[in-house]
Amino acid sequence: MEIQLSINQIPHTIDVSPGESLLKALRRLGYFGVKHGCETGECGACTVLLDSRPVNSCVYLAAQAEGHSIQTIESVGQHPEQGWKETPGLHPLQKAFVESGAIQCGYCTPAMILAAQELLSRNPNPSEVEVRQALSGILCRCTGYLKPVQAVLRAAAALRGEATEPIEPGSWLLPGLGQGTVPEGPTSYFPAPPESELHPENTAAVATRLLPKVFVVPQTQPYQRVGKPEPRVDAVKLVQGKPAYTADFERRDMLVAKVLHSPHAHARLKRIDASRARLLPGVAAVLTWQDIPRVVYSTAGQSDPIPGPLDSFSLDNKVRFVGDRVAFVAAETEEIAQQALGLIDVEYDPLPVLLDPAQAMLPSASQLHDEPEYVNFADSDPNHNLAARIHIDIGDVERGFADADFIFEDDYDVPKVQQAHIEPHVVITYWDEDDRLVIRSSTQVPFHVRRQLAPVLGLPVKRIRVIKPRIGGGFGGKQEVLIEDVAAHLTIATGRPVYYEYSREEEFTAARSRHPMRFHMKTGVKSDGTITANAMQVLSDTGAYGCHALTVTGNTGHKAMALYVGDGTYRKSPNIRFYADIVYTNHPPAGAYRGYGVPQGYWAVERHMEKIARKLGLDPLEFRLKNAVRAGELHPFSTAWSEGREPRPETIETCALEECAHQGKAAIGWDQKFGNAQWKQVPGQSHLRRGLGVALVMQGTAIPYLDMGGASLKMNDDGSFNLLVGATDLGTGSDTVLAQMAAEVLGVHLEDVIVYSSDTDFTPFDKGAYASSTTYVSGGAVVRAARQVAERIRTRAARMLNVHPEAGVRVDPEDLRLVDRQALAPDGRAVTLAEVAHNALHHEDQEQIMGVASFMSPVSPPPFAAQFAEVTVDVETGQVTVDKLVMAVDSGVIVNPLTASGQVEGGMTQALGYAVCEEMGYDKLGRPRECDLRDYHIFQAHEMPELQTIFVETFEPSHPFGVKAVAEIPMDGVAPAVGNAVLDACGADINANPITPEKVWKVLNAS
Ligand code: FES
Ligand code: FES
Repeated sequence: MEIQLSINQIPHTIDVSPGESLLKALRRLGYFGVKHGCETGECGACTVLLDSRPVNSCVYLAAQAEGHSIQTIESVGQHPEQGWKETPGLHPLQKAFVESGAIQCGYCTPAMILAAQELLSRNPNPSEVEVRQALSGILCRCTGYLKPVQAVLRAAAALRGEATEPIEPGSWLLPGLGQGTVPEGPTSYFPAPPESELHPENTAAVATRLLPKVFVVPQTQPYQRVGKPEPRVDAVKLVQGKPAYTADFERRDMLVAKVLHSPHAHARLKRIDASRARLLPGVAAVLTWQDIPRVVYSTAGQSDPIPGPLDSFSLDNKVRFVGDRVAFVAAETEEIAQQALGLIDVEYDPLPVLLDPAQAMLPSASQLHDEPEYVNFADSDPNHNLAARIHIDIGDVERGFADADFIFEDDYDVPKVQQAHIEPHVVITYWDEDDRLVIRSSTQVPFHVRRQLAPVLGLPVKRIRVIKPRIGGGFGGKQEVLIEDVAAHLTIATGRPVYYEYSREEEFTAARSRHPMRFHMKTGVKSDGTITANAMQVLSDTGAYGCHALTVTGNTGHKAMALYVGDGTYRKSPNIRFYADIVYTNHPPAGAYRGYGVPQGYWAVERHMEKIARKLGLDPLEFRLKNAVRAGELHPFSTAWSEGREPRPETIETCALEECAHQGKAAIGWDQKFGNAQWKQVPGQSHLRRGLGVALVMQGTAIPYLDMGGASLKMNDDGSFNLLVGATDLGTGSDTVLAQMAAEVLGVHLEDVIVYSSDTDFTPFDKGAYASSTTYVSGGAVVRAARQVAERIRTRAARMLNVHPEAGVRVDPEDLRLVDRQALAPDGRAVTLAEVAHNALHHEDQEQIMGVASFMSPVSPPPFAAQFAEVTVDVETGQVTVDKLVMAVDSGVIVNPLTASGQVEGGMTQALGYAVCEEMGYDKLGRPRECDLRDYHIFQAHEMPELQTIFVETFEPSHPFGVKAVAEIPMDGVAPAVGNAVLDACGADINANPITPEKVWKVLNAS
């Protein structure tokens, strides 16, 4: 049918099918700023303005738009500089989003800007609460909403003609600690909170701070670009909704793929007949396990050799979870592909369903992996449904227990949860003109995709090219070679381009998730609070396949059980045990999710430590700090375990945990509130109780002797540089911090460094974005490449200056400083980098100035953090309201406080869901309970507590700029801190997260 409507004030007449959504129609017309995140009107990524009101275009029929006026992000503003053409430039909202660091992956940004524009059009002076309400329909999984809200408030002020504070180094930078040492005794740079902040109405969710507090180390003083809140290098394109993501790509004759998923949790395919589906007009191919080669592999995107069993096939004659693959279809349209799925006849032979990992290990349990091609790794044992087993004893654990005055034992549980990135998994594949297979994918691991899929597809690595465009969030979910093979097999079968994108339901049923685990903790303690031995036993549910099975659960112990080593002689020789069974069940496979096993471990460790401290009458923070590992000590697990590699001793060089605890305490008002019976009561509301909780955590930075990143830098005629990296910015801002490091070394501005990431044909190898490694590993490669380039520039610049040496003074290359786009001699003479580039490319002894370098670290320096939570519990309903979260972090030198604090705020918000509401459940047949973003709740803008981030810098000596990781550690401590705060508030001791009202109510009413 033909409809008429106006899009961005331009009249259009378009053909739409009766069931076509407005989202699909707009994207078909090239308005790629309208994003797909779900099909059910819950994520808000598809927001457009219809007659100036926000609507979710995914649940609005295109036909309903007849006669209406639509506005998309493409009409809001433009890049201010477009050659000779004058443009109105960016809209103040877009500018504010760029300047405020309100963008991470940017996938929700167009929708947020449109919703904010509508708000400001009717309310030019909104309160923060009103801004949060206006943004509440748009889910953001990256930012924690703090900076987007602040951006809207700044834009509102600008539109009213009011001045806004510049986002520059200022009062948020504070004198730091020096060389990573902690000063004697407690110090506090924060004044105690005023009396008014001891009342809940003043600690509610409306106090945003754009920039974190940063306690800087002296080594960063001379830096020009590192340590500065530079706007993201990709921000301007993302606020305009430019076609930057995988799905924003058009190709003639592209087919749409769909997958038939299993309705059974465990079954053999007795018979499969696709003949009726193949006859459907518009169907180009249907593939079953009988049609493609049977190649066993692992879907975990990891370096070679994969540290886990090979137990997966693109298609198999057996299904192992509800949602497992049965057949692939490629058709001319999505509707035809969907129809074809219903025409595939499958006869299943059901097998016993195993959902309890303890049951699955019994000798009588049926075997999930009985395929002869199975390739064992380490201690995997498919006969007993064991994907991996870990046994680590450090020191003499039994002796440590014997030395203890008290033994504390308890059990803890953590659930399966979802990454829930707003951009679904999406891939496009096609043959290029050289008959090479191009895979354009939203992946965190393009080089692993190429290497791991080559045998699966029957192609040599050299005939595959993987392009990673902008990623709309990943959080580990895209560290999986999850759907690229589907499209690739169909391109091979049809010869045509194929597009495959998960629906939100597929994200919940067929993508990866966080491993659910059961813990038994046993800790020996002396009466003075010295830990003499600490043991953790884990039962981890990997689901149907063993992707990341060994490494995720190994990290649970490696990071969470490394923090508390004991004190005195026990500190010198800690007694630590970590045993884990990682078991196959008929749940959907677990995998990588931000934190990589560590948030699970800290739930058990930090809930346990809190209870020990309380039972012994010790101050919970002092007890923790007394036993926590310190700078200069051996990482206790470094000689016991590595990720499938040989462990090697590693000393912790920097640790500001004690100072983090002091700063966090001051920021949350610990000394005024903790143990204050009066503060715990809410005046006039006898059903409410307040409480404070704390958790200390450590993570890692990359995988030692394994993770490697490469970088190449090329100088252009105008003194700008192309920085090519294989690293993948999945919204973390890594492209920006890598450019800052290059700009620092080269003495140029950030806009002089043009970053491209990543493409296996053009960018150097990088193992990808995981293990919190990009700033450290890929950044190390960038600095080395930049130093090579800087050396060439200095050499040539010295030669240019020495052609006519003034007063006979010659300069040596090493005398030159690269600063402000010049090579500057001590006597004040200078040549610009543009002059150097011209000289090199066109005039004299011509050469291309460029550098290529790699970085691999022999260590994994841990970041440390103290996480605090303040809650209010309704003791009548069990409702827990988190009022404030504070995180004080030692992540080494902070390259960009805007992007780094965005990581902390977003990570804390995801972890908040882990604390109080997120959980994936299954019925007895293994069918999922949560299949959309209505049933699986993630925090919205108006539900957020106050967030505060504090960086306590140390200078990590193994990195040229002293950095450590920041991306994952915010996930680790929120849930136990909230659990401890609930215990503090009302005595409810909840050992299984999330802490739902039902659990609290049951505990409080148990007697
Ligand atoms: S894509 Fe429309 S609400 Fe999610
Ligand atoms: S920046 Fe909001 S979803 Fe990523």
